[in-house]
Amino acid sequence: MNVLLVGRGGREHSIAMKLYESEQVDQLYAAPGNGGISDIAVCTDLDEMDIDGLLTFAVEKAIDLTIVGPENPLVAGIADKFHKAGMRIFAPTKQAAMLEGSKRYAKEFMQKYGIPTASYASFTHAADAKAYISQIGVPVVVKADGLAGGKGVVVAHAIDEAYRAVERFLAADHNQGSTSSIVIEECLEGPELSLMAFVHGSNVYPMLPARDYKRAFDHDKGPNTGGMGAYAPVEDVSAETLERITNTVLQKAADGMKKEGHPFTGILYAGLMMTEEGPKVIEFNARFGDPETEVVLPLLKNDLLQVLLDVLDGKDPQLSWEPKHCAGVVLASAGYPEAYEKGILLPDLTPEDSVIIVHAGTRITADGLVSDGGRVLLAGSRGDTLTEAINGVYGWLERRHIQPERFFYRRDIGQIVLAEDSAV
Ligand SMILES: Nc1ncnc2c1ncn2[C@@H]1O[C@H](COP(=O)(O)OP(=O)(O)O)[C@@H](O)[C@H]1O
Ligand SMILES: [Mg+2]
Repeated sequence: MNVLLVGRGGREHSIAMKLYESEQVDQLYAAPGNGGISDIAVCTDLDEMDIDGLLTFAVEKAIDLTIVGPENPLVAGIADKFHKAGMRIFAPTKQAAMLEGSKRYAKEFMQKYGIPTASYASFTHAADAKAYISQIGVPVVVKADGLAGGKGVVVAHAIDEAYRAVERFLAADHNQGSTSSIVIEECLEGPELSLMAFVHGSNVYPMLPARDYKRAFDHDKGPNTGGMGAYAPVEDVSAETLERITNTVLQKAADGMKKEGHPFTGILYAGLMMTEEGPKVIEFNARFGDPETEVVLPLLKNDLLQVLLDVLDGKDPQLSWEPKHCAGVVLASAGYPEAYEKGILLPDLTPEDSVIIVHAGTRITADGLVSDGGRVLLAGSRGDTLTEAINGVYGWLERRHIQPERFFYRRDIGQIVLAEDSAV
């Protein structure tokens, strides 16, 4: 079979590595891919958002299945276009992707179907939003409605900080010419958890739970990032709780979307907070999480292509997992998530022992492999215990002798940290 993978990050390299193991994949194409993906797939220089270009390419290369990594093309309707052309794609339609594409839509949907989440109100006018904030007080969470690439949420501990977020998000929306909307949420407390599932209509097949680390620095300090590390499975959450999340969140969401007339096909990702009142949804994503995917897929025993085909055919893919642990630590460019330099020569990336190197922002040049993004790569490792997996990653990273003026990584991946500071 010919497969096309859309995307260029660590998530996509991880998916590509898994597909590379499949005997059913004859040719794997990636658009646009990265310095790691190009080792195992034919990369084509098409942007993720060039949906017409991707469709033409898929038809030309007789692609049997297209897999989409990032959210933007989903929300832009890549699945709808492929369906119309009779091409198979494992992705939600534009309407189904609204679960991720609009925080307001997701909140209204959760309320309608009784899915546990933080209480909220949504606003289009700054004055109303501020009046509401002054009434409920801080801490409070302010969220931009649309896709914001991880920059659309502020957990405010002071009223004026919340006000500033209101102004900023509404102004940004105005600038883009879209309907401005913000969501104001009750601030929840507790450890976070990510649970992803393969979904097709009412069929829901959960993966292993994962925990990711979004803040730039140790102990959850510093600005939010695309993710600085992750591990799976999450042992402080019982099998019973996972079943409860599957039933009260994932299954309810799948059933609800079907009732809405927008059945969901693809990866449904629930970001959860384990509060004293039980698990509550922070957000839904309509695709594989990054970097969760990089620590979950290495534990999947099944052939990933077969899983996706089975799910699309309405068959139970019979997911089976290694009884192991996987941890991943992101190596980022100094300065990330603010300004950083690109094109810096990377250290020797030969994997040792059980270490898996997942490329995120890398590029091959005549001089060798260089950095090409804020998040450069993820070093992952499997182990019989989480400690073993963590030690495997940090041992490898220490032997790289990373120069702090070039790259950095968090040293506390694997520990439980509770978010406290505001995310600006
Ligand atoms: N209601 C909430 N209470 C406390 N923290 C929250 C709440 N909503 C979001 N957060 C924090 O902000 C982070 C980002 O929010 P999220 O809704 O996942 O937005 P996105 O991933 O689109 O940036 C979460 O991972 C969590 O740490
Ligand atoms: Mg999130």
